[in-house]
Amino acid sequence: METGTANYPMTAKTQYGLEDLLADELKRLGASAIVKHNRAVSFEGDKGFMYKANLCLRTALRILKPIKTFNIVNEEGLYREIGKINWEDYMGVDDTLAIDCSLNSDFFTHSQFLAQKAKDAVVDQFRNRHGKRPSVDLDQPTLRINLHIFKNACTVSLDSSGESLHKRGYRTQTNLAPINEVLAAGLILLSGWDKRSPLIDPMCGSGTILIEAAMIANNIPSGYFRKRFGFESWKDFEPALWDTIFNAAIDKISEENQQITGVEIIPEIAEMAKANVLGSKVEDTVKIVCSSFHDFEPWEHITKTTGKPIVIMNPPYGERLEPENIKELYKSIGDTLKKKYAGCDAWVITSNVEAMKSLGIHATRKISLYNGPLECKFLKFSMYEGTRKVHKLKKETPNEENAAGEERIEETP
Ligand SMILES: C[S@@+](CC[C@H](N)C(=O)[O-])C[C@H]1O[C@@H](n2cnc3c(N)ncnc32)[C@H](O)[C@@H]1O
Repeated sequence: METGTANYPMTAKTQYGLEDLLADELKRLGASAIVKHNRAVSFEGDKGFMYKANLCLRTALRILKPIKTFNIVNEEGLYREIGKINWEDYMGVDDTLAIDCSLNSDFFTHSQFLAQKAKDAVVDQFRNRHGKRPSVDLDQPTLRINLHIFKNACTVSLDSSGESLHKRGYRTQTNLAPINEVLAAGLILLSGWDKRSPLIDPMCGSGTILIEAAMIANNIPSGYFRKRFGFESWKDFEPALWDTIFNAAIDKISEENQQITGVEIIPEIAEMAKANVLGSKVEDTVKIVCSSFHDFEPWEHITKTTGKPIVIMNPPYGERLEPENIKELYKSIGDTLKKKYAGCDAWVITSNVEAMKSLGIHATRKISLYNGPLECKFLKFSMYEGTRKVHKLKKETPNEENAAGEERIEETP
């Protein structure tokens, strides 16, 4: 394995739609040879950079270190090629392993079967040499190996992250439909939030968007609360180098108190959000209000006059949660944004295309993303100051055919 100073190629995996953000993050962190792919970005860096990438990248799911690429046409070929790698360079017979396999190929159909075949090749190598074999541990292995098979090309990588990097380690409490932390960070970065203007999540659930925002604003590394990264059990792990990288990153944490506010209608879920905020030590920055979004008065909670407030919300989609009438809910979201959020930029992520139309406001940007398996749109609505005035006018003349004026104002950037 490499010494701390030699550069080598790596691949950071991410979610669809976050590749540009990840490439930017890698550039700012100091990676070289950055190339974007579908749901991944390849780059080069040394061992210290690999530690830093795991600790700091907000939009990466895993950092893989490729060790061998070869072509295969059947499972036996995979077994043979995996057997040619000297696995004692990476683990001992008393260590444990797990193998993940991602597949995009007409030659093969079952990723689990291929992972099994590769595991056989590794353990058979140890058994032939030592008369005993390493065990499999799917949760916390000493070495997590990744196979990526595209057509007939197989890349074998070591997974330096271990557990997926979206598992930040701060969220102890979750509601029914929490958003993945990597996606939450992606939404905030895609929104272009300036880290200073007030930020509101009016349907905050367990508080993920708020906590990710506070961590971004205060430079808290995304992996600060994680107990462990995969590379810590590698044979070539350098604890002193990791300490240096970790301390340099936490030296950059700032303690500016932002105005980040979450609103949640269900008291038990609001309590969960509060517990998560405490767990991530951002309670000075993030405030949780138990209320309906429709009753919440944002301007009573925004005291800063600098910067345009930003709203980022992940309402129920009507898939995993079942509000009685999802279209009615979305119509009321649109109405509340118009009534109470004039002067803000509002972003809404949803997979429900039909319900989206019921918002009754015109999106000025639409970004395609995935929330788990659900294809989503992340929509931007610029709630112009004029909207509030028009709304007032509408209230004063209730019989007038109304919405057209509001729509027209909102559609004009
Ligand atoms: C999809 S979940 C949000 C998940 C959140 N992003 C997280 O990471 O946990 C939607 C949340 O909106 C809340 N909600 C629904 N209607 C609401 C309303 N009128 N006002 C405030 N919160 C509401 C639900 O209770 C639920 O917790």
